[in-house]
Amino acid sequence: MEEIQLSRGQFLRQLGMSSAALMSFYCLGTSMTACTSASDDPTPTTPTTPTTPAGNVDTGITGSTTGTIDFTIDLTHKDFKKLKTEGEFTYVADIIIANAKGTIVALSKICTHQGSTIDFRGGTGDFKCPNHGSEFTSTGKVQKDPAVKALQAYKVESLNSGNSLKITG
Ligand code: FES
Repeated sequence: MEEIQLSRGQFLRQLGMSSAALMSFYCLGTSMTACTSASDDPTPTTPTTPTTPAGNVDTGITGSTTGTIDFTIDLTHKDFKKLKTEGEFTYVADIIIANAKGTIVALSKICTHQGSTIDFRGGTGDFKCPNHGSEFTSTGKVQKDPAVKALQAYKVESLNSGNSLKITG
């Protein structure tokens, strides 16, 4: 048998060609995707919009709005600064906070008749349930049935030179 002696260079060149031939065969086979890079993919990608982590979102509220009520709202926050204006109101969890003729009050927003969410009437500074028409004073007392039980009222304290409200109850 004839023995063929290859120099190191000849051996490596043959090995390189073999590898290239193998890759060509592999890429032309059924596994085309294995040979394409991400940059070759014509599918457009949707840019992602940076989002603020949930823990850093400024809601203007600190404290507990459920269970034992004890929270503070920032009246300079965009969602709450309107409360400095007479006749304005907003909801925080199950509480309605309203500026009733210059006094900010906080009551349960849940009608004591059948549980609908009450509205504030800025003109008269009182509350009305849109469901069956019960009305409540600014302190939560019933002024028109069918409700017979007062709305729960929460304590409201003005803090920070009138720029924060602490609501407890
Ligand atoms: S639920 Fe409010 S009046 Fe009936």
